[in-house]
Amino acid sequence: MIRETVHVPLGDRSYDVIIGEGLIANAASELRPLLPRPRVAVLTDENVAHAHLDALQSGLGDIQMTALSLPVGEATKSWPALEKSVEWLLAEKLERRDVMIALGGGVIGDLGGFAAAIVRRGIRFVQIPTSLLAQVDSSVGGKTAINSGHGKNLVGAFHQPALVLADIGVLDTLAPRDFLAGYGEVVKYGLLGDAEFFAWLETNGPALATGDRALRTHAIKRSVEMKADIVARDETEQGDRALLNLGHTFCHALEAATGYSDRLLHGEGVAIGCALAFELSARLGLCSQEEPSRVRAHLKAMGMKTDLADIPGDLPDADRLIDLMGQDKKVIDGKLRFILARGIGEAFVTDDVPRETLHGVLQDALSSIGR
Ligand code: GLY
Repeated sequence: MIRETVHVPLGDRSYDVIIGEGLIANAASELRPLLPRPRVAVLTDENVAHAHLDALQSGLGDIQMTALSLPVGEATKSWPALEKSVEWLLAEKLERRDVMIALGGGVIGDLGGFAAAIVRRGIRFVQIPTSLLAQVDSSVGGKTAINSGHGKNLVGAFHQPALVLADIGVLDTLAPRDFLAGYGEVVKYGLLGDAEFFAWLETNGPALATGDRALRTHAIKRSVEMKADIVARDETEQGDRALLNLGHTFCHALEAATGYSDRLLHGEGVAIGCALAFELSARLGLCSQEEPSRVRAHLKAMGMKTDLADIPGDLPDADRLIDLMGQDKKVIDGKLRFILARGIGEAFVTDDVPRETLHGVLQDALSSIGR
């Protein structure tokens, strides 16, 4: 059975991310060391409950399980769903040392983590991420949040999980579109800090997408190692952690422009955003034009959304997209912060991007598709 462990070293908030097969089936042995009493509360969504809750219950053996299933989708990262989750945890009489499990993708992980952060001023929680995106990104690092009418992830807290169990078997149940959206975050790691990993993805991405478990494990482990390293250096995003937002300033504007709907999944927006960030870097003379071309070629070879043209329906003009970027949490003193690159694997953070150059990149991307 495949089993790899990545440690996230954060002093008394350190924890392991275990990546491998059979982790849900053996949940009792993974979790028992954390439990003061044989009881867990599982927050999940209706699809994930249908696919995996019975397996988790049987994996928990004699550990008593109570569960709350919420509606599927981004709309669940909301004040009403937070209230429902918190009131449920209180009604279930979870104590501070008890463990809540967030079983699901990024929505459940972010919402559940935030509920865990505020119930009794913080209870422990375990992430069991069921999407590739959640396994490589959102379940690790302790960012928790809900969305506000003002934008995505604007209400939240840093609250680290006590353990992350990334069971790669669950990836077999994902729709290809969801798998590839998560792969957008995997590509991001290569692009931001590991050119060799990006080259490995160029070679192995197609086989990984069709189901090779050893390749999937390697890609997830390398992604989590990179995230753990960055989070250990900068847990609360005072500096380097912003590198993890490569592609996200563009992505958040595109998600807002498409109403956070299934016209554009988050990971798809990240992939398009990474391509645009490299295009912007090339326009600013930071890297050669071959670098954005190579990024786009890999995304296209994987059958992923790559360009604005791949987003169905209308998009607003370049000025409106820049306005939407202004809602991003990365804005400091009214200045947009971007993650740009001097080449593949060499990203850095800057707020020094002339508006005309940004406008030009967006305008060209829009006019190439006749908008
Ligand atoms: N997803 C970006 C971060 O965790 O910082």
